[in-house]
Amino acid sequence: MAVLVLSVLILSCFSAIPFTYADSGMIGVNYGRIADNLPAPEKVVELLKSQGINRVKLFDTDKTVLTALANSGIKVVVSLPNENLTAAAADQSYTDNWVQENVKKYTPATDIEAIAVGNEVFVDPKNTTKYLVAAMTNIRSSLVKFGLDESVKVSSPIALSALANSYPPSAGSFKPDLIEPVIKPMLDLLRKTSSHLMVNAYPFFAYAANADKIPLDYALFKENAGNVDNGNGLRYDSLFDAQIDAVFAAMAAVGFGDVKLTVTETGWPSAGDENEIGAGAANAAAYNGGLVKRVLTGNGTPLKPKDPLNVYLFALFNENLKTGPTSERNYGLFYPNEAKVYDVPLFSTSATVAPVSDSKAKVLPVNKPSSSSHVGQTWCVANGKTTKEKLQEALDYACGEGGADCRPIQKGAACYDPESLEAHASYAFNSYYQKNARGVGTCDFGGSAYVVSQPPKYGKCEFPTGH
Ligand SMILES: *[C@@H]1O[C@H](CO)[C@@H](O)[C@H](O)[C@H]1NC(C)=O
Ligand SMILES: *[C@@H]1O[C@H](CO)[C@@H](O)[C@H](O)[C@H]1NC(C)=O
Repeated sequence: MAVLVLSVLILSCFSAIPFTYADSGMIGVNYGRIADNLPAPEKVVELLKSQGINRVKLFDTDKTVLTALANSGIKVVVSLPNENLTAAAADQSYTDNWVQENVKKYTPATDIEAIAVGNEVFVDPKNTTKYLVAAMTNIRSSLVKFGLDESVKVSSPIALSALANSYPPSAGSFKPDLIEPVIKPMLDLLRKTSSHLMVNAYPFFAYAANADKIPLDYALFKENAGNVDNGNGLRYDSLFDAQIDAVFAAMAAVGFGDVKLTVTETGWPSAGDENEIGAGAANAAAYNGGLVKRVLTGNGTPLKPKDPLNVYLFALFNENLKTGPTSERNYGLFYPNEAKVYDVPLFSTSATVAPVSDSKAKVLPVNKPSSSSHVGQTWCVANGKTTKEKLQEALDYACGEGGADCRPIQKGAACYDPESLEAHASYAFNSYYQKNARGVGTCDFGGSAYVVSQPPKYGKCEFPTGH
């Protein structure tokens, strides 16, 4: 994956002064779809375009998504799901058919540039690690067969937990039991095919588990004292850089220091459970804003200063059907209604794409965010897709213990009409949300509610807002 075209523009935090860059990396976004309330793929493609996002990573090869992405100018990484890995490893006629039906059929209209074979396979509870390299090899052979091997790369995203050691970065090493069976053969394949190792790296996890030892500013790309690696004397200003260099060091330690790397997932949740230290909208805004600026303006990492960073943010949307802790449902840059989750102007609103064809510094145009009469105002509404029982329970909580002002939804009062559970719950949730100063986590109700940036419309009812 060569360096490319600048897709994402950010505003300077302090002013409208354009910044310059030399060798810039690229930013893409993961378009995860574990949700029942996302916009149709065609609308999502419009959203991506309007934000100047021209790289996207999918977790499958969904037909409607790949069709919507046709002729969009957006480059796409598709994935072969873990559940299909064993079949892909067993039989090249399977991968021939898979490549035919899920890749070839859509190219060249849809610009598929890589296949992620599985995702974090080493930590999948249904462990298919021993099939991974065979599956990648078969996919690669099928691409060769269809003449797609020049345009479509093959790799597999690994979690940072593939490392036995990541601190200090220079001491990075892979888990010993993974090295011979899978790491070395995989890196060998990547080297032979000029492909990148795909790495999912979340400084958030390291911070949340070691908040007493890791300064938050170091995790969030803010000014901080930095950290000197006592192994090689290199200085680190961010945990992200330290994590990536730990992977480079681990690759070098097994003889593959020349293989390049793409960060296929990174992000920071805008909300989390009480024990998820650091989760929150302000931190998510700082992390993602800082990262985008870092990638577009900076060089590579201290170990590989000349290699531009290639990063896919996780994720495009909050995904309401993800299981696990609250953070899992709150990694999105956007709510399902396409409102931004936090205010930091991460992306330009009317993107101008600045091609980077050489290494000369160029000046990025900086756009003002679009203004509307509701800028900065948000409301909380019920998620009509949750069950009646859940909604009723949440409504009862909001009006009871929660202390929401539910008088307007009583019979005869101004917001009794329309008389629907969703409308009444929305009123109550919004009242609770505004009362709590729109704090992080105050518009969730176990997934029964979400934030919107347009005034809710339920009959003639006026929903209060805080400002
Ligand atoms: C992938 O695996 C799932 C689950 O076993 C199966 O339903 C699906 O048909 C498989 N896809 C292909 C292309 O084989
Ligand atoms: C999966 O299998 C590999 C070896 O094939 C092993 O090293 C690894 O620890 C296993 N992971 C899990 C989650 O069981």
